[in-house]
Amino acid sequence: MKRKIYFFIVLFFCCITIVSAKKKPMQIYQDPSKSVEERIADLLGKMTLEEKIYQLNQYTAGVNDNKNNMGEVVKNIPAEIGSLIYGDEDAILRNQLQHKAMEQSRLGIPILFGHDVIHGFRTIYPIPLAISCSWNPDLALQACSMAAVEARKSGVDWTFSPMIDIARDARWGRIAEGYGEDPYTASVFAAAAVKGYQGNDLSSTKNIAACLKHFVGYGASEAGRDYVYTEISRQSLWDTYLPPYEAGIKAGAATVMSAFNCISGIPASSNPYTMIEVLKKRWGHDGFVVSDWGAVSQLMNQGVAATEKEATYKAFTSGVEMDMTDNFYGKYLKELVEEGKISPAQIDDAVKRVLRIKFRLGLFDHPYTVSGPEKERLLQPTSLILAQKMAEESIVLLKNDNSVLPLSSNTRIAVIGPLAKDRADLLGSWHAHGHADDVIDIYDGLKSVFPESQLLYAQGCTIEGEDFSHFGEAVDVAKKSDVVLLCLGEKASWSGENASRASISLPVIQEKLLNELLKAGKPIVLVLSNGRPLDLSRMVPSCKAILELWQPGIMGGKALSNVLSGAVNPSGKLSVTFPYNIGQIPIYYNRRNPARKPTQGFYQDMTVEPLYEFGYGLSYTNFEYGDIVASSMKIKPTDNLILRVNVRNMGDRDGAEVAQWFVSAQSCSIARPMKELKYFTKKEIKRGETTTFEWKVNPLYDLGFVNDEGQHFLDPGIYTISIGNKNIKIEVTE
Ligand code: NOJ
Repeated sequence: MKRKIYFFIVLFFCCITIVSAKKKPMQIYQDPSKSVEERIADLLGKMTLEEKIYQLNQYTAGVNDNKNNMGEVVKNIPAEIGSLIYGDEDAILRNQLQHKAMEQSRLGIPILFGHDVIHGFRTIYPIPLAISCSWNPDLALQACSMAAVEARKSGVDWTFSPMIDIARDARWGRIAEGYGEDPYTASVFAAAAVKGYQGNDLSSTKNIAACLKHFVGYGASEAGRDYVYTEISRQSLWDTYLPPYEAGIKAGAATVMSAFNCISGIPASSNPYTMIEVLKKRWGHDGFVVSDWGAVSQLMNQGVAATEKEATYKAFTSGVEMDMTDNFYGKYLKELVEEGKISPAQIDDAVKRVLRIKFRLGLFDHPYTVSGPEKERLLQPTSLILAQKMAEESIVLLKNDNSVLPLSSNTRIAVIGPLAKDRADLLGSWHAHGHADDVIDIYDGLKSVFPESQLLYAQGCTIEGEDFSHFGEAVDVAKKSDVVLLCLGEKASWSGENASRASISLPVIQEKLLNELLKAGKPIVLVLSNGRPLDLSRMVPSCKAILELWQPGIMGGKALSNVLSGAVNPSGKLSVTFPYNIGQIPIYYNRRNPARKPTQGFYQDMTVEPLYEFGYGLSYTNFEYGDIVASSMKIKPTDNLILRVNVRNMGDRDGAEVAQWFVSAQSCSIARPMKELKYFTKKEIKRGETTTFEWKVNPLYDLGFVNDEGQHFLDPGIYTISIGNKNIKIEVTE
C-alpha cells in the first residue's frame, strides 16, 4: 500500500514538472490584455534584424491567375515572412502556412494574408465606377462589409482596396476600378469603403484591413496608358488627387499602397513628400505603406535608381514599409543597415507599423481562419439581395424618348446582342473569386420578370470580329417583336490593369448590328455593359432609350430586368463624363476656366461639350427643384451657413433623387475649376411629395480652395451655388 501511495505521489510531481516545463510563460506580446503598443514594444525588443526585415516582405501563395503580376513563385515560404498575397478561395493553405509561421518561427509572428477584393470576394457587386453612379455610399459601405465577411471567412485579412485614383481618361483600363472623375465623390466612397471593410473593430472575424491605392496620382497616366508618367502640379495634387486619400485616412484606413506612376519627376514609390510629409506626418497615419507589385524594382525602369540596392534605399527611406514581391528588402536592407545608410530606428519604425496592423487584426490571438463549408461562407442570400440592389442603383438611364421605358408587361421583346447571354463579362475586371456560373445574365434576368413566351432571342454577333452572317436572323427576330433590347458592350478583360484602349468606341461589328436592326422598324432600347465611358455618338440617334448597366456583377440581369419592367425606378447618375468623341479627352466637369469664353477656344470640327455630363441620369419620374434658401446671403469665412432646397416629385411614380451641390467662385487667387461638387444627398421621394434637402456649409472648405501646400483658404467675393437647375449667390466678406 505504502509503495502504491509513493508511486502516485512521484507520478503526480512528474506530471506537474512535465506540464510546467512544456508551458513557456506567456510573453507580453502574446498577452491580449496588454495594449497594442506594449505588445509591439515587447516583441520588437526580442526580434533580430533578420526577423524584422522578414516582416517587411510580401510574397505570394496559392493560385495566382493575374497575368500582369505573375512574378517568381516562392516554393519554400519562410515561416518568418511578413505577408502573403493569397490566391486560394478557401483557408486551407492559409492555415497550413500560418501554422508554420506560428510553430516554426522563433517568435511565432502570424502572417498577414492579402488579396484583391475589389468589388466582392465571391459575391461580385458592380464595378466601383458603377457603384459611384449609385450615389449611395451607405449601400457601398454594406457591399464592402459583406465582401469583408466572405473574404475573412475564406482566409483573407487584408484587401488591396479601395482604389481611389481620380481618372479622367476613358482610355485608361483602370478607370473601371475607381469612383470616377470627381475628388469629392471619390472621397465619400473612399470613406464608405474603408468603414465597410474595417467596421469598428479590425479584430472581428467579419472585418478586413483596407488599403488605399494607388498613392498617388496613378489616374493621371499620360494618354490613358498604364504604368506611365504623370505630370501633376503640387496644387493639383492637393486639389484633385489627395482628397480621397485624406478622406480614407480619416475613416481609419489601415494601409496604403504606393503607385507605379512618376509624379512630376519623382516616382510615387520613392516620394518622401507624399508618403512621409503628407501621409505620415501631416495626416498622422500609423499603419504601413506597401509598394504596388514590383514598384520597388520599377524605380530602376523609371530611371531614378541604378541598382537594386539603390531602389531599395529610395523606396524604404521615402516611406514604403513593405515590398510587394520584389524581395529587394529581403536582399538589401540588412546590408544598408550595416553600412549605416539606414538606421535601426528606421527599421523599427517600419516593423512597428506592420506589427500594429497585425495586432489590430487580432492575428496574434486568433491566427487561424475558422472557416465553414462554402455554402455557409459564400453567396449568402443577404449578399445576393445587396448585390442586386447595388446593381439596380448603379444603372444610369441615359435616354428615354417618349417614355419608351419602362416596358409594359405584355411587350414582346427581341433580346439581341453579344452581351444578352454573356455571364463572364458582366463580372468586370478584378472579380476576385467570382464565377461566371453565379451570374444571372440579361436573358435569364428577363425570364424572371417577363413571361418567357414574350422573349425572342438572337445573338446577332460576337463582341468583336467580322462574322456578320447572323445579322439577318437578328433582324427577323426584331421584326416579330414590339421592342428590341440590344445588349452591347465590352469584354471584362478590356478594363483593369494593363488594359488601356486607344479607342473607346464599341467594335464596328456592334455598331453595324445596331444599324442593321433599324431595318426592322422597331424601337431600340440599348443596354450597355462596359467598364469605361464610351463614344456613343453614332449610336445615340438610332436608339429610343439607353441604359448604362456597367459591369454589374452577379445579379446584373435581374437588376436590369427590374428597371426595364419599372419595378425599380432608375436613380443612377454618371460619376464620369461621357465624351462625344475620343478627341475630347481629357474631358471632365471640373476643368478650370479657359482664358477666352464663351465664344472662342472650341474645336473647329465639334463641340467642346460632352455627350453626357458628370451627374447626368434620368428617372421615370420628374423632380422639380424649388429656390435655394440660404440662412444668410452675406457671410464671413468663419460664419455658419445653412442651405435648403425643396424637391418635388412631379411624376406618377415614386423615385429617388440625388441632389448635387456645386460651387463656382467669381474669382480666386488661384484659377480654379468652373464648378466643384461639394455635397450630394440621395433621397427617396414618393410621387406627388416634396422633400427638403439641407446642408450645413463649412465656408472655408466648401466655398474656398486649396493651395500648393494643402492649406485651405477662402478669398472674399461672390460664390455661386447651384443645385439642380437653381442657383444662388453668396457674398463672402473679409
Ligand atoms: C498590381 C495592381 O496594380 C494592384 O492594384 C494590385 O493590388 C496588386 N497588383 C496586387 O495584385
